[in-house]
Amino acid sequence: MKFFIDTAEIDEIEDLLKTNMVDGVTTNPSLIAKSGKDIKETISKICQLISGPVSAEVTAITSSEMVEEGKILHAIAPNVVVKIPLTWDGLEACNKFYNLKIPTNVTLCFSASQALLAAKAGATYISPFIGRLDDSGIEGVELIGQIRSIYDNYDNLNTQILAASIRNTNHIIQVAMLGADVATIPPKILKDLIKHPLTEIGLENFLKDWETTGQKIR
Ligand code: E4P
Repeated sequence: MKFFIDTAEIDEIEDLLKTNMVDGVTTNPSLIAKSGKDIKETISKICQLISGPVSAEVTAITSSEMVEEGKILHAIAPNVVVKIPLTWDGLEACNKFYNLKIPTNVTLCFSASQALLAAKAGATYISPFIGRLDDSGIEGVELIGQIRSIYDNYDNLNTQILAASIRNTNHIIQVAMLGADVATIPPKILKDLIKHPLTEIGLENFLKDWETTGQKIR
């Protein structure tokens, strides 16, 4: 399973790259707005740091304008994945990018039927939003299982499931069990993955006992 980080903050990306756990990055217009930085400069900087897929989202509404914007974003670096909203215009643009061999991430997916359409349009990634479904009173992770079953039924549906809107470490375990190809994870939650109180207490006790021996390894 691949881990992407869901951020537009350069320092957070640099910090997490040290873990060697980061396979890619996703951004969206809200994350760019929060960073206060220029989208093209930010995407360019991220692509200098990481060779894996970096999603940059179009903000146009019509298919032709999405294609124009997507081409500009993809021209920043070869690893830029064009992120497109799940609308009919978005699917049309997605299909154009498929024919141009430009990778896409179809975003704002909240149902299995939407995911089926995105795969038929040739999306490289589909982004089901787990946390936002939970917020609306629907069990978000169940959608990952539904999409996995559908995609696995057909050899010609090769879209990768990119679990998005992750809110806690349990979401990551659940989507991994259900066969998501990728999870895009906020930096803090990726760091939380390693935490367990018994590991911390266990290490503290090992070190205390070791001190009583007076020994040194180096
Ligand atoms: C990633 O591609 C999505 O834009 C992101 O995961 C959305 O997360 P949120 O629901 O926490 O904003």
